[in-house]
Amino acid sequence: MTGQLHVRVPAKVNLSLKVGPARADGYHELATVFQALSLVDDVQAELAPAGELHLAFRGEGAAFLPTDDTNLAIRAARAMMERFDRHDAGLDLVIRKNIPVAGGMAGGSADAAAVLVACNELWDCGASSDDLAGVAATLGADVPFALMGGTALGTSRGDRLKAVEARGEYHWTLALAHTGLSTPAVFSRFDEIVSAPADPEVGEDLLAALASGDVRAVGDALTNDLQDPCLDMQPELAATLEAGRGAGALGSVVSGSGPTCAFLSASEQEAQRVADALASVRSVHAVRTAHGPVQGAAVVR
Ligand code: C5P
Repeated sequence: MTGQLHVRVPAKVNLSLKVGPARADGYHELATVFQALSLVDDVQAELAPAGELHLAFRGEGAAFLPTDDTNLAIRAARAMMERFDRHDAGLDLVIRKNIPVAGGMAGGSADAAAVLVACNELWDCGASSDDLAGVAATLGADVPFALMGGTALGTSRGDRLKAVEARGEYHWTLALAHTGLSTPAVFSRFDEIVSAPADPEVGEDLLAALASGDVRAVGDALTNDLQDPCLDMQPELAATLEAGRGAGALGSVVSGSGPTCAFLSASEQEAQRVADALASVRSVHAVRTAHGPVQGAAVVR
């Protein structure tokens, strides 16, 4: 044990996101299919003196992120301190951001998941993956999936997970928007637009397409109930979606609570072609390509 660790954690895209009624706890009942992508944040963690937790960010958007106790990454470390009684432990964290901030790709949740893994190793907590998933669920609805990775069905708040068979590799182009969207604000707009949502259910067409590795059918089945509220709040996203489809993408969807738009292609070359076309679109701030599924938060050895 050197007292230092590098944890890599993936972004997620929702292939299908069905939203049900708001619950008494303020969350919405969801049925969603997540896929973990090769767009990752890198977390460097180092042991620090007792009780000290420090956080710094590097990379795009880093300057705008809080580094105090309000950050989910620090809350993750505190949760591990409590759960495993490690009040004599400390941690220095440096997080290199690649996952867009406030982009609907669960970047904050990903960083929290990486910190859980780092604390478990460096503080010798001896937590099982079920233990970590339990702590993750107390931090946020998307944190358990960032630990799990792969392709998974999420129900309840999106945190009750079951692996989904997904054959083959999926090539994505991600169009980042100029400004972010707040997740609670997007869910509130959903509540304004949809008065009586049905109980959420992921379509069999998507699950069958994933099981057989039929990328074209997966593209056809991409869907997101939060897309209309996102388009309402950022109408220019319509031009982004249109441009990606025009460039030959097999499917397009706003990712999670937006505003990042995700486009599916059958190969890396095609994903790059879609990226080249999107790069000059006015509503697009930046473009990334990535593949999925990839593993969840893990130590880089
Ligand atoms: O769990 P997390 O903190 O990431 O969720 C952020 C916010 O998104 C919640 O406070 C809630 O407003 C909204 N949300 C929701 N239903 C979900 C997940 C998130 O309403 N299933």
